Amino acid sequence: MTSITLNAYAKLNLTLDILRKREDGYHDLQMVMQTVSLHDDVTVTLTDGDGITCRCGDIPGDESNLAVKAARAFFAETGVKPCGLDIDIVKRIPAQAGMAGGSSDGAATLRALRKLLKPELLGDELERIAAKVGSDVPYCVRGGTALAEGRGERLTTLRDAPRFHVVLCKPEFAISTPMLFSRVKVSELRERPDTAGMLDALHHGDAAGVASRVKNVFEAVLPRDFAEVFAIKERLLRLGAEAAAMTGSGPTVFGLFQDESAARSAFASLHGDYAQTFLAQFV
Ligand code: C5P
Repeated sequence: MTSITLNAYAKLNLTLDILRKREDGYHDLQMVMQTVSLHDDVTVTLTDGDGITCRCGDIPGDESNLAVKAARAFFAETGVKPCGLDIDIVKRIPAQAGMAGGSSDGAATLRALRKLLKPELLGDELERIAAKVGSDVPYCVRGGTALAEGRGERLTTLRDAPRFHVVLCKPEFAISTPMLFSRVKVSELRERPDTAGMLDALHHGDAAGVASRVKNVFEAVLPRDFAEVFAIKERLLRLGAEAAAMTGSGPTVFGLFQDESAARSAFASLHGDYAQTFLAQFV
């Protein structure tokens, strides 16, 4: 086998809490994460050359691309002799959206390289390499419903969440992740997610309990310029979403629906105003 194509799923944050700022500049987080069916297609091909080529839609396929960084980290950390690689990414997940699109491409590249070059590599080891590529990459390697702690790399797999339909809507602006973190004063955060309650609701398969605990602490520190996030959130709730929140550092807002036809009508309504609106489900 010299080539493989894998789905790189988008993620959303059912909860996002910030516990403290660390000495190394990062923050200790507590996040309940969920993969959704919106995905990129990542094809990794072993080539005769000795370099890495990468095409990734409108996003540069250079050394800054997380798929390329992941491939470099794979060779550096496993000791597998570097060979030529071509990475071809069909991009559907918007960039800088809070959906971990880049991280998920990096994670899919790691999984592809394991399959092609070192199938005996354990999942834990692949996630350790993933943490060197970016904070969300270990979770993207694992996928499903999981609690992510520390920088995001300490993972606990949870019982699969009740199967919601999801409408994801990304306004046209981007929000800088470091900028948003810099606005957080942990001691001043008032409205924190009830992470323990969310874990309990997930454990019991309680869809209403999950929906009622969806929360992202970043919404409290969003600059006024990004108020459209709240307008989209309100609109999703008016359209029947059982919960709505920003995912990650935004700006994408998601709404959860148990009823597929309600999700479809909400998607149709928002898609008229926001080109980057997607209908998906939990995977
Ligand atoms: O690890 P990654 O490169 O994805 O992180 C991007 C930026 O987000 C970091 O440079 C840091 O400013 C911020 N960050 C943080 N705490 C985390 C994850 C990310 O402060 N747990």
